[in-house]
Amino acid sequence: MSIRKTLNNKLHDIKNGIGDQIEELKAEIDRRFGNLGRRSGDEILRALPEPSGMTMPLMEALQERESERSFSNEPLPDQLVSNLLFAADGINRKGGKRTTPTALNWRETDIYLLKANGIWRWVPERRALLFCALHDIREESYILNSQFTLPPLELVYVTNYSRTRSLITDAVETIAPKIRSAAFSEAAIRELRIRSTNIDVGAKIQSVYLAAAAMGLSCVARTGFSAEKLAAKLHLKPDEEVVAAQSVGYPAKSILDHIK
Ligand SMILES: Cc1cc2nc3c(=O)[nH]c(=O)nc-3n(C[C@H](O)[C@H](O)[C@H](O)COP(=O)(O)O)c2cc1C
Repeated sequence: MSIRKTLNNKLHDIKNGIGDQIEELKAEIDRRFGNLGRRSGDEILRALPEPSGMTMPLMEALQERESERSFSNEPLPDQLVSNLLFAADGINRKGGKRTTPTALNWRETDIYLLKANGIWRWVPERRALLFCALHDIREESYILNSQFTLPPLELVYVTNYSRTRSLITDAVETIAPKIRSAAFSEAAIRELRIRSTNIDVGAKIQSVYLAAAAMGLSCVARTGFSAEKLAAKLHLKPDEEVVAAQSVGYPAKSILDHIK
């Protein structure tokens, strides 16, 4: 990597307050998938271009938003992937704050990208994709084997519950059984945590639907898959859960697009 690129990355890190966390994340992904070593630095962390375009007025994007399940197998260029991820979970302010809200600013949703060229993880602080594995597991995000062309991109939203713990929530959970209030019971807090994290994913899904509409892409949110099977393929930890997937791609132009 060039000195200029290294300095730029460092500056980006300092601005977004993530310091050396990227090295920890790389090591973590390496432990889970075990084959990062086969790739060079630039390939492991694939920087995406700055988001741009998507100039459609919001009113028009809202008019255009719909679920479309028919895709061309043409891969999406990095610019469009960057725009989609900016919509889902891009940094738009100081302090690493995002385009979509999260309860208590937990930022607990990780986004994995399933593509023909492998599994990747979105790293918002670097505006980059971290390579995880070479396997094409797009098919695993469906209950039945799809008879149609697979979309070039499956976004997979994973809730990392370990990030929903903080001094405040831990304190409330410790005190709850002592004050015996139903509002603060362990079950109520668990339910609140699940409800909030699912809403956080929902906000991302709608944001991506609008971005897809603004770029003329087909898009559909999906929960119809085995979360357990997909979690195993992504080597998730026990406190991580797959919540939803979202397929995105160019619309199919002709019947030939459906030939796998
Ligand atoms: C949480 C959620 C889960 C969904 N799961 C699926 C799914 O598994 N498969 C699918 O084809 N569509 C799925 N959809 C898309 C809905 O079927 C679609 O939004 C609905 O039919 C309304 O159509 P519209 O999005 O075009 O307005 C899901 C949508 C949401 C919000």
